[in-house]
Amino acid sequence: MRNIAGLLANPPLDQSVEITGWLRTRRDAASFSFLEINDGSCLANIQVIVGDDLANYHSEIKKLATGCALRVVGTLRASPAKGQAVEIAAAQVELIGAAGADYPLQKKRHSPEFLRTICHLRPRTNAIGAVMRVRSRLAFATHQFFQERGFVQTHTPIITTSDCEGAGEMFEVVTGQGDFFGKPAGLTVSGQLQAEAYALALGKVYTFGPTFRAENSNTSRHLAEFWMIEPEMAFCDLQGDMAMAVALLKYLVADALKNCAADLELFDAYVEKGLLAKLRALVEQDFIHLTYDQAIEQLLAAPVKFSYPVHWGIDPQSEHERYLCEERYKAPLIITDYPAAIKPFYMRLSDDGRTVAAMDILVPGIGEIIGGSQREERLDVLEKRMLAAGMNLDDYAWYLDLRRYGSAPHAGFGLGFERLVRFVSGMANIRDVIAFPRAPGFAPC
Ligand code: 4AD
Ligand code: MG
Repeated sequence: MRNIAGLLANPPLDQSVEITGWLRTRRDAASFSFLEINDGSCLANIQVIVGDDLANYHSEIKKLATGCALRVVGTLRASPAKGQAVEIAAAQVELIGAAGADYPLQKKRHSPEFLRTICHLRPRTNAIGAVMRVRSRLAFATHQFFQERGFVQTHTPIITTSDCEGAGEMFEVVTGQGDFFGKPAGLTVSGQLQAEAYALALGKVYTFGPTFRAENSNTSRHLAEFWMIEPEMAFCDLQGDMAMAVALLKYLVADALKNCAADLELFDAYVEKGLLAKLRALVEQDFIHLTYDQAIEQLLAAPVKFSYPVHWGIDPQSEHERYLCEERYKAPLIITDYPAAIKPFYMRLSDDGRTVAAMDILVPGIGEIIGGSQREERLDVLEKRMLAAGMNLDDYAWYLDLRRYGSAPHAGFGLGFERLVRFVSGMANIRDVIAFPRAPGFAPC
């Protein structure tokens, strides 16, 4: 049995076909009914014509309600009417699961806010169905990108005793039995530290898994549980890191343009006007490179008043990133060489002693989509920075070992997967690009 996507891609005209799916709408004419059925394999529904000669026509078909599950057997034929190329003339329609008049997804437009109250049913809408197909394709393309380049996928732990970002945003892991691990543990905020260990053995590795942050940010770009793609490369500096990050972003967007055309056209028409042009531009445009110093100069010279004042040393806020990316340059940006004081302990200290070999990539509409750096590979420098950050070196003895034995320059970055899906789909809120979002005060199922 083929799904609707398969039937529409290569229609076996005048042959018998079988489909299963959910009823979107039913329209009745004098002696027959039209059923619009969607099976989630693609955006398009398939139209089924059911004549009153079917035994269950009056008893069942004419009562079928939006949302019910159906199985249809019939002949696929060229459609005489406008609106679809093919349709199915039903020989048999079987009601598999009924839906009542209280089915929440009656045919009309529903707001994203309403749909978030029914996360378990919203994948049956056009928009969320399309987002999830695009998300799945982007995940596949991510693995393809790294596997083609000889990266080894590593599964870093979800429960960890090392805080990577040092921002105090870890969810604690506790049980009723007290000190389960013999020391405090939490849900990982990043697989990076463990990925470093594997990069310094396997050369090029990547992780792609869930990460957790207990930051109290109720915004359209923060989740408490999100997925991150984190490559880590030995014998690599910041230049190589930036080049890999740009190549990955362009590859993923180009892949979606090629393989998710119908879904992206829906987003372009109804979700973000100009989306396709924006995506094509990302693939073709050069990214603009600014140092942090240059970015601050541009912000100080900006003809706008920011609510968060600008001076050297600030951690750029969303309003600053958006001004640079969407107004000043109207292009994706890479900002490098941030002040050491606003970045985590593991980033490599530059010769100027005040900045680190960090890079953030910003894209229009999102702001920061990637954060990465060259890592501090010098034991003495790293120890000094960790002590200055108030860290206990004994807790990170394993991480320091990587600098004791065969240390080498290495670099990596993290791409926020939901921010990527948001960029590619144009969805306004990050909660609408993950199946079951978790955010402060929000974890419905
Ligand atoms: O910049 P971040 O915090 O970097 C790290 O975690 C590094 N350890 C990555 C590395 O070098 N291996 O996070 C990386 C990216 C951000 O650029 C952003 O896209 C995303 O993760 N991100 C979030 N996405 C959704 N919700 C949140 N709360 C996020 N916090 C970060
Ligand atoms: Mg960051």
